Amino acid sequence: MKLPAAMALLLALISAAAQAADFDAAQTRRILGHGPWPPAESADRSNRLSGNRDAVRLGAMLFGEPRLSGNGAISCQTCHRPDHGWSEAKARSEGLRLQDRNAPGLLNVRLQRWFGWDGANDSLWAAGIRPILKDSEMGGSAAATAKLLREDAPLACLAQRVAPDYATGDDEAVLVLAAKALAAFQETINSPRTPFDEFRDALAANDRAGMARYPEAAQRGLALFTGRGQCGMCHTGANFSNGEFHDTGLVFFLNDPDRKPGTPRRADPGRHGGIAQLKANRFNLLGRYNDDASGQASIPARHVEQQHRNWGEFKVPSLRNLTATAPYMHNGSKPSLRDVILHYSDLDEDRLHSDGEAILKPLKLAEGEIADLQAFLESLSVPNDTAARYENLRREAAACR
Ligand code: HEC
Ligand code: HEC
Repeated sequence: MKLPAAMALLLALISAAAQAADFDAAQTRRILGHGPWPPAESADRSNRLSGNRDAVRLGAMLFGEPRLSGNGAISCQTCHRPDHGWSEAKARSEGLRLQDRNAPGLLNVRLQRWFGWDGANDSLWAAGIRPILKDSEMGGSAAATAKLLREDAPLACLAQRVAPDYATGDDEAVLVLAAKALAAFQETINSPRTPFDEFRDALAANDRAGMARYPEAAQRGLALFTGRGQCGMCHTGANFSNGEFHDTGLVFFLNDPDRKPGTPRRADPGRHGGIAQLKANRFNLLGRYNDDASGQASIPARHVEQQHRNWGEFKVPSLRNLTATAPYMHNGSKPSLRDVILHYSDLDEDRLHSDGEAILKPLKLAEGEIADLQAFLESLSVPNDTAARYENLRREAAACR
């Protein structure tokens, strides 16, 4: 078929489907843009252990390993709980000390481009080094991590399979090996298809019976999401995130329980600080541990520049699996999805950057619209078996001889 004919057919299909569901052609195009799910998988070029089965097992073992921390009591799993969408119920995480931010859920984390709410890391593996080394978080060290991987029998067995000569490397190289195995494991924490994905594919196929199975409230919420709400301007694509940073008018002062009277309140600089940290981090992809010889993976780090408007910007989170990951936002300040929706509905425009974010306006939603938007967001969540698979991987790992 020649291209114009194919286009005409596609447009005809789109407009037929649009009538059935009351979505106009532009909205239909936007809805189709939120799929297909699951997206194609590709290996992380910066991590030579990406996709390696033994590295996945080693990573699963390390994820629940409290000996990576200075006090022997904190593991990744402390804050990224498998039964809480790989996040936790606390508004702000607590490691050795209280953190400034909420622990993000790790489902589909492989699809992120920047890591952390401020994007201070440009690879999934480097994002696992930060918590290990940070004094207030796990307070571990390269030396202690390397010792553990050399001396603990199952860990050493797996590390040996993954990198036969690892034990002769220096401590920092072993720390990076551990982080890359952690990343290989986290790449496997993916969520399945949701009612929204069924609807989206039915819409693409003009399958009216299939479309009718999607609850009407969710359909109305989707229309709001892709229409007047303009949510899809930032929450784009199959994972509902453009991977970039925006200001949504949240209060950026930290509510600090430890603040001494008379001292100034601290603010979270968001992306502005994240770029500075990224540039200063020797584990970034411009450094020696990037396994990508092509130079592709390090392009973002090479080109990103700190700008004034980055102050108070945070990463656009995915909207999948939200029912498991309350509370919400970088500071955990919104206890429920309804609270997030009310934030957008009653938005305080004075808090938005004067020079950016013209997209966001207070939506002044009616009660029914709030419920519809919530029904749509809930249709992006389904139970998943990642917790059980994690336990299986850990059992397999422990059996390494
Ligand atoms: C004390 C709680 C805590 C522990 C322990 C912890 N994390 Fe996190 N994690 C967080 C918080 C909080 C953030 C957000 C950090 C930020 O924005 O600066 C985060 C962010 C991340 C991210 C970025 C996710 C994204 O979507 O941007 C990854 C990946 C991650 N952690 C993996 C790990 C791994 C691997 C470990 C163990 C080595 C670990 N975390 C240990 C609290 C924790
Ligand atoms: C200008 C870009 C932009 C637009 C438009 C936008 N968002 Fe967001 N959204 C963000 C950013 C950035 C965050 C994280 C903010 C933070 O934590 O500081 C966020 C956070 C969220 C969260 C919390 C997710 C979590 O894991 O904490 C939800 C839910 C959400 N948005 C839904 C919506 C809905 C619904 C709309 C439309 C009414 C919308 N967003 C419009 C950028 C946007």
